[in-house]
Amino acid sequence: MKLLFLPLLSTCLILSSQASAQVTSTNKETTEQRDARIAWWRDARFGMFVHWDMSSVAGTEISWSRKGSKPLDIRGDGPGYVEDPAYDNLYKRFNPVKYDAKEWVKIAREAGMKYLVFTAKHHGGFCMWDTKQTDYSIMNTPYGKDLLRPLAEACREEGIRFCIYYSQRDWHQPDYGIGDNRKYVDFMNAQLKELLTGYGKVDLLWFDSYGKGDLVNFWRVGETWNLIKELAPDIMINNRLCVLGGYDRQPVPFRGDFATPEQRLGSYNSKRPWESCMTMSSVGAWSYHTGGGVKPFSEILKMLVFCAGGDGNLLLDVGPDAEGVIPADQVSVLRKVGDWLKVNGESIYGTRGGPYLPTARYAATRKGKAVYLHILKWEGDSCKLPALGAEIASSTLLSGGKVDVVNNAEGLTVSVPLSDQKDPDTVVKLELKVDAMAIQPIKPFPEDEPAKKKQEKKP
Ligand code: GLC
Repeated sequence: MKLLFLPLLSTCLILSSQASAQVTSTNKETTEQRDARIAWWRDARFGMFVHWDMSSVAGTEISWSRKGSKPLDIRGDGPGYVEDPAYDNLYKRFNPVKYDAKEWVKIAREAGMKYLVFTAKHHGGFCMWDTKQTDYSIMNTPYGKDLLRPLAEACREEGIRFCIYYSQRDWHQPDYGIGDNRKYVDFMNAQLKELLTGYGKVDLLWFDSYGKGDLVNFWRVGETWNLIKELAPDIMINNRLCVLGGYDRQPVPFRGDFATPEQRLGSYNSKRPWESCMTMSSVGAWSYHTGGGVKPFSEILKMLVFCAGGDGNLLLDVGPDAEGVIPADQVSVLRKVGDWLKVNGESIYGTRGGPYLPTARYAATRKGKAVYLHILKWEGDSCKLPALGAEIASSTLLSGGKVDVVNNAEGLTVSVPLSDQKDPDTVVKLELKVDAMAIQPIKPFPEDEPAKKKQEKKP
């Protein structure tokens, strides 16, 4: 691999679309250092997203089910604040007595997930930790105890990377979006400081966008960035700390470490790291929802396979109920994914996507001299792919059984008896005579259907 020693700009000058002032950051990282910093996350491939707050008491969507909040994205822009006493008082009934952080982390670990992202504060502004910046927190519920600390501790004990979701939108803070937004940014930075200094190592911050507003004077994004990097130099940050002409169009470093396709699977991209965030809920709910069930195991497993095959991660979302329990139907699907990974994990963890670009019939991952073919659709006992263009030393099935592979100029034909095929994915390991990473991406046959990207139902 060619090593790049191009230093990133030590000072990054950003011109915002709405303001011509400058934002500065103290970013001195080289590409090589960046790759080393995010290697754990790339290797992990699979994480748990947890959307949870007092909205679970009503069983309606977190934050978005609060009436009249959306216009507050930037105060003054919309029809203005609408009272929603039903939603705003839910916290008075929030008492998750069955919350067991160790149990959650165990569920994640047994599902084969390597990191966990928790909504410390969603758009609704309710804080799940003992913040000193507002009373609108878990400390003023009947429960009255910090929910973040036990989770941070349990993650550390179980070797799961601990990551925090923090919404910069805040539909409850009276200072949010008022005037020059100065008071709110001070509040937000003080909260970030609490989160980054009070809970041990935080591996990743998952931001969730501002509404509108000038990044330079209104959001002071450089100040927030520098604060985070000062407190946690190795931390990862997603691409939603600021929006400048859209996600992933922000200038370095504010573009963050990875792209975040939401409720859709990312396309193959070996250059820009990405993570699809997807709900387990069949109605696309992020948080606990009384209507709707869970997507089937086969659909969820295919999400993971298409993400890994596209060289991306899957952040799979669960929504614990008002007592603090992850719903049993979600847990049962997660266990199946974990069982599958026990057998087939080497084809996911530590791999990179390709060389075959994913189609509806197959995806591929690779590591060292190995290519892992994930065959999702067979024609009888065989599946034909475009030619590999590299010599194969041996082929095996990760789940055991017979496999025969013929590779010539017309294509690569894999044959596995019906009795050894697995639903929904049979993993064939090809051991090559050359480095699998050196193979250029291989396009599907023109008649091949592309991999399904979007989930069918919308929240
Ligand atoms: C969106 C939604 C939010 C959800 C997030 C997860 O931005 O506003 O409810 O938390 O996506 O990606």
